[in-house]
Amino acid sequence: MEQIETTKTAALDAIANANGLDELDAVRVQYMGRKGLIPDLMKHLKTIPNEEKRAYGQRVNDLKTAFQEALDARKQELEAAAEETVTAAFDLTLPGEWRGVGSKHPITQLTERAIRIFQTLGFTVADGPDIETVFNNFDALNHPPGHPARDVKDTFYLDDPDTLLRTHTSPVQVRYMLSHPPPIRIIAPGRCYRRDTPDATHSANFHQIEGLYVAEKVSLADLKGDLSHFAREAMGPNTKVRFRPHFFPFTEPSVEVDFSCHVCGGKGCRVCKNSGWIEIAGAGMVDPNVFKAVGYDPDKVTGYAFGMGIERIAMILFGITDIRHLYENDARYLAQF
Ligand code: DAH
Repeated sequence: MEQIETTKTAALDAIANANGLDELDAVRVQYMGRKGLIPDLMKHLKTIPNEEKRAYGQRVNDLKTAFQEALDARKQELEAAAEETVTAAFDLTLPGEWRGVGSKHPITQLTERAIRIFQTLGFTVADGPDIETVFNNFDALNHPPGHPARDVKDTFYLDDPDTLLRTHTSPVQVRYMLSHPPPIRIIAPGRCYRRDTPDATHSANFHQIEGLYVAEKVSLADLKGDLSHFAREAMGPNTKVRFRPHFFPFTEPSVEVDFSCHVCGGKGCRVCKNSGWIEIAGAGMVDPNVFKAVGYDPDKVTGYAFGMGIERIAMILFGITDIRHLYENDARYLAQF
């Protein structure tokens, strides 16, 4: 009985003196663990004379209860103290750290603006993968075998020689026509890849927006009207548009589309190579061979198509003098636009 009392005094002292949750847990193990002092007392029960067994057992149980209560109370105290220490470490009145709000990349801004403008003309957005088949990128677009654009010097082919990194967004035309009957009116923004040596106006990867309108009796006049509307909406009402005859395998007739240079207003500068004009797009009337490749009847439908460089538009619009600034990802530079 005396031993129970001594254990009790020592145990309650140990609890009271425990200075932290770890220490308190050590006390719990010391007294209540499987080999702890209190279970030990219980093991003595068999050495106790029968008539005292009951009282002895009762005392050990009382000790257990008292120990557990003291332990729980101390634990609460220590937890509260720990929380106070954490709170005291923060000055809740300090102003927060300002994290600047991000800005959209100029390419993204321009793409979104172009989508909005063409949507008002009834276009919907179509999409295709960066990794394309040679068929979609070249064959179906009327590039015969041996066409210079197919050369490995200009195009990134993948290990499977039937696949490549698309050199333009035009293969989206093929994908869309193969899966949708006419009439269709789509734009397809996306990333393109070419083996170009980087300079102020060239980059090995860049962005285009493809446009395609196929229906009965679509004409070159629709193309002129829609692209002029786009130029004025995107670049301002004074933007002039110029069409020059050109050649593309997948359109006939074909044109190149220039917008007046925004940096110099048409007087001539480094960006427009002193011409006052910047080449923005290739365009034309869809070649009958393209319609045949996708199963459209060239006697029933006609269509116009265009592909324009998003970087060029971003550059003249924002006065960016080197295309490489768009890819250096200096947030301080890009956040200006
Ligand atoms: N795919 C051409 C290029 O990357 C641009 C182009 C020209 C697209 C004429 C067209 C088009 O849809 O009709 O240079």
